[in-house]
Amino acid sequence: MATRSNEEVRLKTPPLRRSEEAFARALLVFPDGTSRVTIERDPIPKYMERGEGAYLFDVDGNRYLDLNGNFTSLIHGHAFKPVVDAVHLQLASGSCFANPTQVEIELASILCERIPNVDRVRFVNTGTEAVMFAIKAARAFTGKEGIAKFEGAYHGAYDWAEVSQSATPENWGPADDPVSVPFYKGMPESVLQETLVLRFNDTALLEKKLTAHARRIAAVVIDPMPSQAGLVAAKPDFLDSLHRLCRDHGVLIIADEVLNLRQGYRGASARYGLKPDLLTMGKIIGGGLPIGAIGGREDVMDVFSAKSGRPLLPQAGTFSANPLSIVAGIAAMRALDEAAFARLDSLGDRLRANLTDIIAQQDAPFAVTGAGSLFRIHPTRRKPREFRDMATNALQKDASRALSGFFSRHGAILPNGAAACLSTPMGETEVERISDLFRLFLKEHAAEIKNMKIAE
Ligand SMILES: Cc1ncc(COP(=O)(O)O)c(C=O)c1O
Repeated sequence: MATRSNEEVRLKTPPLRRSEEAFARALLVFPDGTSRVTIERDPIPKYMERGEGAYLFDVDGNRYLDLNGNFTSLIHGHAFKPVVDAVHLQLASGSCFANPTQVEIELASILCERIPNVDRVRFVNTGTEAVMFAIKAARAFTGKEGIAKFEGAYHGAYDWAEVSQSATPENWGPADDPVSVPFYKGMPESVLQETLVLRFNDTALLEKKLTAHARRIAAVVIDPMPSQAGLVAAKPDFLDSLHRLCRDHGVLIIADEVLNLRQGYRGASARYGLKPDLLTMGKIIGGGLPIGAIGGREDVMDVFSAKSGRPLLPQAGTFSANPLSIVAGIAAMRALDEAAFARLDSLGDRLRANLTDIIAQQDAPFAVTGAGSLFRIHPTRRKPREFRDMATNALQKDASRALSGFFSRHGAILPNGAAACLSTPMGETEVERISDLFRLFLKEHAAEIKNMKIAE
């Protein structure tokens, strides 16, 4: 593996004077100075001016390798020319209409052709909306109110999908009887009662709980590789049980692929053998513009149909299927042929192998998970198997923060506590750069890391 000297990768802490000024103004108009809780601040957010390919440039003129990609949505990086051209052209002809456009048929066709079990599609504006409508569709189809989901899994901001999203060892309850934990103060008790919480890859718990509660459960919502629950894939025997139980008890499977669709030409369910009835999409299918989509089996998707009168589930949305997001999505998805996914896969494999080697060489208490273009570095010696393995002590949290802070000071944006991603404009140079930075971080922080006594 080619390595560069420490001096070569070491940079000065970038100046952030303009970002500081912007943040001071932002504090006057936003509750905490930001408009999204996920904005990283170390200690202040970096205000970005522009993006170009794999790189971002902040208002102070610093350049960063972008491993966040607006939360994994920018699979082609920034200002991807086919997207820019498509959006310019569309914008000049109008940005949205109350009528359908031909382009929406084209993006829907791409999704239906590529993704197994997606016979029909509806477009919305975010992944949150896609998950919300998929859950409502399952309710409308089955006539049942409840849902089941996996502890720690993130599915956006619909109340039922938020249950136990940030459960902690103090409130998550016994391993064989997880508690439905509210996500925010005031979350209705009825939502908690209507949401059965399971544990990812725990087949025994799935068998026991789903069998007992199936008569009130419309759907199991599952991300085939939940980022917040470790970024590890669903096991084949676990999926076998899920398929059998759901079929036997009239429960639908909703695969949330808002994030993981980027794992392959046919998506993540196909990659791991999950056979959903409904599938939610977002992020990459909008080419960097806001989008969400619900896809699925024709008979289930019929709940949206007004062919024979009022639909079982009316779904509208002022900006749903807006042509700007649609044309951007077409440009992005067309450029993602099977060869593009294969290339991303092999870059990702190389990066994960490099990081794993570096951890072994330095006997560092870290582990790497992920697949395809996604990776996550955990401050734990063993790879997490599910959400409960992700519980970290204060020192481990500090280590994660220190790692992101180190990357940021050295010109790379590495998300703290979330999935990081590669994008198509990246190549060997970027993989080596990430590896070099990680190696240097472990070296420079060797003493503190040793003192962290990270759980074995
Ligand atoms: C798996 C998953 N589902 C749903 C969402 C929500 O999507 P959005 O942020 O577009 O509302 C996300 C966003 O990160 C996600 O990762």
